[in-house]
Amino acid sequence: MFLTGTMRVNRGGRLEIGGCDAVDLARRFGTPLYVLDEALVRQNCTAYRETLRRLYPRSQVAYAGKAFLNMAMCRLVGQEELALDVASGGEIYTALKAGFAPEKMIFHGNNKTPEEIRQALRAGLGRFVADSISELELLASLAAEERKIAAVVLRVKPGIEAHTHHYIQTGQLDSKFGLGLADGQALAAVCLALDAEYLEFCGLHCHIGSQIFELEPFRLAAAVMMDFIQEIRSKTGVVVRELNLGGGAGIRYLPEDTPFPVQRYLELITATLQEKASEHNLPLPLLLIEPGRSIAGEAGSTLYTAGAIKEIPGIRKIVAVDGGMTDNLRPALYGAKYTVLHAGRVEDRDLEVVTVAGKACESGDVLIRDAKLPSLARGDVLAVLSTGAYNYSMASNYNRFPRPAVVFVRDGHAELVVARESYEDLVRNDLLPELRTAAGGGSDRCGSQKCTA
Ligand code: LLP
Repeated sequence: MFLTGTMRVNRGGRLEIGGCDAVDLARRFGTPLYVLDEALVRQNCTAYRETLRRLYPRSQVAYAGKAFLNMAMCRLVGQEELALDVASGGEIYTALKAGFAPEKMIFHGNNKTPEEIRQALRAGLGRFVADSISELELLASLAAEERKIAAVVLRVKPGIEAHTHHYIQTGQLDSKFGLGLADGQALAAVCLALDAEYLEFCGLHCHIGSQIFELEPFRLAAAVMMDFIQEIRSKTGVVVRELNLGGGAGIRYLPEDTPFPVQRYLELITATLQEKASEHNLPLPLLLIEPGRSIAGEAGSTLYTAGAIKEIPGIRKIVAVDGGMTDNLRPALYGAKYTVLHAGRVEDRDLEVVTVAGKACESGDVLIRDAKLPSLARGDVLAVLSTGAYNYSMASNYNRFPRPAVVFVRDGHAELVVARESYEDLVRNDLLPELRTAAGGGSDRCGSQKCTA
């Protein structure tokens, strides 16, 4: 077992997060419930911001909103002086509604629609991260149409792909994201961005993967990008002013997970930039990073209520909870593993092996296989840890389950920041036209007296 942030076991042997008893939270707000430890999110923001500022003053940390975004989170991120990585019109809209400064938003995505680009131009977003030549052309024409200068950063594929515990280096990476270095697309895009009247070429971006436990791929990516900056100068005479190295730091889902300390990661990339800048005699670029998971992930927990309990003789015991893949898609999609606690009896030593399953109509809807838990009864509250990133943001309404509420907890107070969806919410956009049956009911082709065809 491991507890993060402000989590502790209270005198009643129950789990407490942000000074709030988890079983009480479940009763008060219902389950499934996303609980976010606000102090831990702020601590993570501060660690990134202050450490980077100290190591490399010309820098900016942006929070990758795709990990977990709603209006309250936008406000928190703004208060913590982070910029915001947004990846859709919906994320832009959410952030603007929350009063987040548009000039501090960085617009990502491999297929921004013309409507999204116009929305971003009109709002005055700080950066457009162009992902392809085709997108750059679209952006140039829409910016000209709107008579707005778009500040452009180019997403480059550095040829390094990293995932948990390993990475690969390839010449030409087969990925839908970014512009290739080896095939000359990245350089062609630089020239295009420099030439377009309504584009301002600001710099380069790369993102090598997510939930990464090794530091070496980050060092390599930083080095490859600095070499490319040197190549750009030698071929065009232009000095790239800005380098965004994306996100990717891993977090702890299981007690045995060993993420690297943020400080070591920041020391390594800033040292690499400094070495390469002096090797190539280049000025230091403005450095941006975009952590998502490592800001929100460990700060989130999901509370569930145990329901049906099924013993499959000689095989396994299954405890079904009142959520599942609809609020946490990661086990079904990636085989992701999680830690689960009995929120009411955290430290019980008398454990049995159970499988925690969801309630969606899908055999793959299993949250945790072979968890060790005290014996459970219907109504007991379970807490799944490290669900702050890519859970709420990837939630669905499969089986017409309403999406859960989100609460921020801090110093003994719980603040509802996203209300639980209601059944009424589920049908809000449904329309009920007078549908005709196959038989039609009438004699004409359309089966309706009103047909004029
Ligand atoms: N910047 C860019 C351009 C990204 O695409 C991402 C994540 C990030 C930053 C933030 O990366 P992080 O620090 O969170 O690793 N749904 C997957 C993760 C997808 C990550 C997508 N991009 C999951 O649940 O594991």
